[in-house]
Amino acid sequence: MTPEDKKRNAAEAAVDYVKPDSVIGVGTGSTVNHFIDLLAERMADRITAAVSSSEASSDRLRGHGIKVVDLNEIGNLDLYVDGADESNHQLQLIKGGGGALTREKIVAAASREFVCIADDSKLVTTLGDFPLPLEVIPMARELVAAELRKLGGEPRLREDFVTDNGNQILDVHGLQIRNALDMETRINQLAGVVCVGLFAHRPANVLILGTDDGVRACHPATGVS
Ligand code: 5RP
Repeated sequence: MTPEDKKRNAAEAAVDYVKPDSVIGVGTGSTVNHFIDLLAERMADRITAAVSSSEASSDRLRGHGIKVVDLNEIGNLDLYVDGADESNHQLQLIKGGGGALTREKIVAAASREFVCIADDSKLVTTLGDFPLPLEVIPMARELVAAELRKLGGEPRLREDFVTDNGNQILDVHGLQIRNALDMETRINQLAGVVCVGLFAHRPANVLILGTDDGVRACHPATGVS
């Protein structure tokens, strides 16, 4: 089975979490694109609206006739569905490969349940092989980069990329993140960091993995169910 097939299968399983006539949070990326397409196909007129984490996902949702609303109008959400670049067994995540980490973290924070969808290559023992994305205010880029070098990372500017919020992304290579809670807190405290793509204080509640043997749902307490 190809990674794309696995992503689609994980996305399909996540559609079962969507309650009819609800407003849902929608993330960003190729796995979420499958989710949006399947949502439109399976639940057509049964979605009230979506809160989106990126302009790209908003365009795709609207293309299917799904209304996109501002989080401020909604307050809290029951469900957020999004992908990840890496997950450990606590369902702490690295996100931001698509550069939408800040809005993704906001929508995750506003949601009661975060269902993460991915192919099984994303499950790792230790986070950090995937370079950790940081959204930074452009004038602070070098200041933040210097601090990340002190933490043992090798920050690289994502070339020719501007976030939906008008900022830049530093991708930090070479980190082995054994204490994700501490790392997230430390990076959050650096002046000029808008958001770090480490989702440890707000991990996923469920990780749905597409595998060669079908989908499996992982939970943080038990590992796998
Ligand atoms: C975007 C993200 C995505 O969820 C992450 O990059 C995974 O993407 P894909 O589903 O394409 O593998 O965090 O900012």
